[in-house]
Amino acid sequence: MAHNGSTQPVRIGLVGLGTVGSGVVRILVDSADHITRHAGRPIEVAAAVVRDPAKERDCTLPAIPISTDIGTISRDPSITLAALLVGGLEPARSMMVELLESGKDVVTANKALLAEHGPELFELARRLGRSIAFEAAVAGGIPIVAAIGECLAANRIESIRGILNGTSNFILTRMEEDGSSYAEALALAQAKGFAEADPSMDVDGTDATQKLAILSHLAFGDWVPWKEIPRTGIDTVDIDLIRYAAELGYRIRLVAVARRSNGRLAMRVAPALVKIGTPLAETRGAYNAVSIVGDAVGRMFFHGLGAGQMPTASAVVADIIDTVVGRTAITFRTTGLLSADTPAAKLAGVDASERHFLRIVVTDRPGVLARITGILGDHGISIASVIQHDPIATGAAAAAASVPPDVALVIMTHLCPSSAVHEALLSIDRCDAVRGKSVCLGVLDE
Ligand code: HSE
Repeated sequence: MAHNGSTQPVRIGLVGLGTVGSGVVRILVDSADHITRHAGRPIEVAAAVVRDPAKERDCTLPAIPISTDIGTISRDPSITLAALLVGGLEPARSMMVELLESGKDVVTANKALLAEHGPELFELARRLGRSIAFEAAVAGGIPIVAAIGECLAANRIESIRGILNGTSNFILTRMEEDGSSYAEALALAQAKGFAEADPSMDVDGTDATQKLAILSHLAFGDWVPWKEIPRTGIDTVDIDLIRYAAELGYRIRLVAVARRSNGRLAMRVAPALVKIGTPLAETRGAYNAVSIVGDAVGRMFFHGLGAGQMPTASAVVADIIDTVVGRTAITFRTTGLLSADTPAAKLAGVDASERHFLRIVVTDRPGVLARITGILGDHGISIASVIQHDPIATGAAAAAASVPPDVALVIMTHLCPSSAVHEALLSIDRCDAVRGKSVCLGVLDE
């Protein structure tokens, strides 16, 4: 839809009145004058579709029909735009198709839907002359979709590095600052409305990976099915890892990376050590951050709240205004996002040359350290530092039982290829003295 000079209210439909939907209503109602100035005409919520109409809402609703039937929006010709603010794949996908087919432009915050079905939905919208706006789907309130898709259009983007999941970042920050357990920090994130309905998608890295697939498409043009991106979540991080990292001058963050490498894309989502004092390490709580390198502009850094009601609603309402004034239609048409000729990305194997942080739990007996450093040396890996704390408490009890105690060997390597470290760890983990699977995290020093 484009602004046609009318000052009549634009009637919109909301699908979903959960955390984000209620935030959208609050902005549209509380800031109505301001929104009218930006959109050139009032924006009026005309109908809402929800799963449970009896449920209490976190906003004062205007007197509108609330139903469970998407048809109350799709069949109403006076509604020209719908905000699809429900998560998950179904019924979200079917509802998006119905809305587009009935002539509505769509604004959505549903990154899972776009990461999974983006190409077919964008193709459908284009064929029907409609648009899909999705600023809220990535990094909540940070206007990163507009920044990459429009403001940085002069640049060949070389790399993206981001903290894209607010829940994971909130959990890591609480563990690091309060010594909270993982479970306590997760419960708090849920109570604050940051987490997905199924929080395993936050903590296993799925949410960040889906966002990285969308950002990479905007930045590099290629489309990567998100399931092909190597992914590790924060459910592999424990408090000891956080403490060892701090001892070395680092924090642990869930970092999503995509960069060009010999005409291919190298991508991954994984916990990594980030140096204290660098912007990623100073990204705390539910904040997200995105660092982008463009060939003309150099490195840029974006920081803001990436989850939660009002930051996400801020992005949704901006998309609603952009759609009303016609900006979305222009961007949608000119950038050719997810068109039929979008190339499928060729993923490079992730073989970053970087420092690595290793935690290897071993039986504390003579020769073990030498054996492990020997294996690293055999793979051409040079060691920058080693930490082994005296296992005093457990040592006394274990000595009584004449069993050598277990200790953690924490090793920081110099720059080396990830592939060499992974091969070395396969040999190390086969040693008798090694207890369980070792941990290896990449280290980002800048
Ligand atoms: N659950 C997401 C997060 C917010 O924690 O970042 C919506 O994408």
